Amino acid sequence: MYLGLDLGTSGVKALLIDAGQKIIGSGHASLDVSRPHPGWSEQNPTDWIRACETAIAELKASHPKELAAVKGIGLSGHMHGATLLDAGDQVLRPCILWNDTRSHAEAAALDADPRFRQLTGNIVFPGFTAPKLAWVKNNEPSVFAKVAKVLLPKDFLRLWLTGEHISEMSDSAGTSWLDVGKRRWSPELLAATSLDERQMPSLVEGTEKAGALRAELAASWGIASGTPVAGGAGDNAASACGMGTVGAGHAFVSLGTSGVLFAANASYLPNPASAVHTFCHALPNTWHQMGVILSATDSLNWLSEISGKKAGELTAELGETLKAPSGVSFLPYLSGERTPHNDSVIRGSFTGLAHESGRAVLTQAVLEGVAFAFRDSLEALKTAGTILTRVTAIGGGSRSRYWLKAIATALQVPVDIPADGDFGAAFGAARLGLIAAIGADPLAVCTAPRTDATIEPDVPLGGAYADAYQRYRALYPAIKGAMA
Ligand code: XUL
Repeated sequence: MYLGLDLGTSGVKALLIDAGQKIIGSGHASLDVSRPHPGWSEQNPTDWIRACETAIAELKASHPKELAAVKGIGLSGHMHGATLLDAGDQVLRPCILWNDTRSHAEAAALDADPRFRQLTGNIVFPGFTAPKLAWVKNNEPSVFAKVAKVLLPKDFLRLWLTGEHISEMSDSAGTSWLDVGKRRWSPELLAATSLDERQMPSLVEGTEKAGALRAELAASWGIASGTPVAGGAGDNAASACGMGTVGAGHAFVSLGTSGVLFAANASYLPNPASAVHTFCHALPNTWHQMGVILSATDSLNWLSEISGKKAGELTAELGETLKAPSGVSFLPYLSGERTPHNDSVIRGSFTGLAHESGRAVLTQAVLEGVAFAFRDSLEALKTAGTILTRVTAIGGGSRSRYWLKAIATALQVPVDIPADGDFGAAFGAARLGLIAAIGADPLAVCTAPRTDATIEPDVPLGGAYADAYQRYRALYPAIKGAMA
């Protein structure tokens, strides 16, 4: 048995697979995000540990024997978060998350230093880790002075699981401190934020062993003490391992809290000007590109909250037959946007509202707005040299057929739906746990699931979608001007 642990923004998932990669069981615990000021987004790292314990307790209650047979553990987590520890490994402040934009001025200042784009292959986005540390230095100097280690969220879980400070390439690529082409920390970039390599965890590949389960936790879960923990991956690279998106030409669209259009690459192909992210993949010597939109299902969840209807109820009101765009447009920039705008100040909007614009029209506009944001990412990937001919859909939002049809029509590529199963980040993490534990061939393990159905672009509505996309494209500069 192998255990995958995924620390998501909205909850922790513990997934058990057997040696043949069959899913045996899972446990789950929810997490909240705290937004104490506009643009801020934080979580308390001790809540991650509690959620992990709850998820594993659920698994232990349903599958005690199988849990006891675990031979390897893999980790995945939301990326970029700054978890700051003192010399005694105590947490210094709440973790500043990937969708927190408070450090936009610091990010712009670092991004203006050409060494950052040159060595990391990426824009320094406000959501990345380095500008967060610059913000802490400027605003909470007494905290900054005590920082002995900076860990990414899943690597904080590793510290709790194993007692070790270790990270891996895919997640570390999103810090703005990694030399992404050479897969090593850049002392130069660390120094540019008044840090050095001693404050960073050591680095392995996602498929390598990176610590062993502590005796105390092993005893309480009934797992063998010393069970290896794999390097694992940031959640997007972990999902890619789960989906078999590991070879050039393979791609997925992820409808999670964030939205990601992810393409695997055989080599390092940076193109920061396009606002595409170019990161190390979790498998040795491979890389990937992705376009990232900050509010995907988060946009629908926001509408759900203000309308008092569950997200599933809102999408059910639309039925399954794609409608022509109504003229109401939605920009999903609830916490700014990364690809293609790199704009943390912009905010979302509805335009074209009329008396007859009821709830279903707003839901339709939200789904279309997110689909058009993916189209922007598709165009950005094209600029960065990656042409996608089909994508596989994953993430909670992919349960809505309507949304998938809107995405296929907006992108003008077929969207594959994997056969029933759970091929997300926790599954990818479990696969990495398996690879590290037995030294398996990563490509033999990270295969693609069977496709259950393919959603083709809607041909009759192609023209109306193309027009609506042009309206959507024109709105960003207009709204930006109005907000300035
Ligand atoms: C990727 C990113 C998000 C988080 C969400 O750059 O910020 O996809 O990883 O979990």
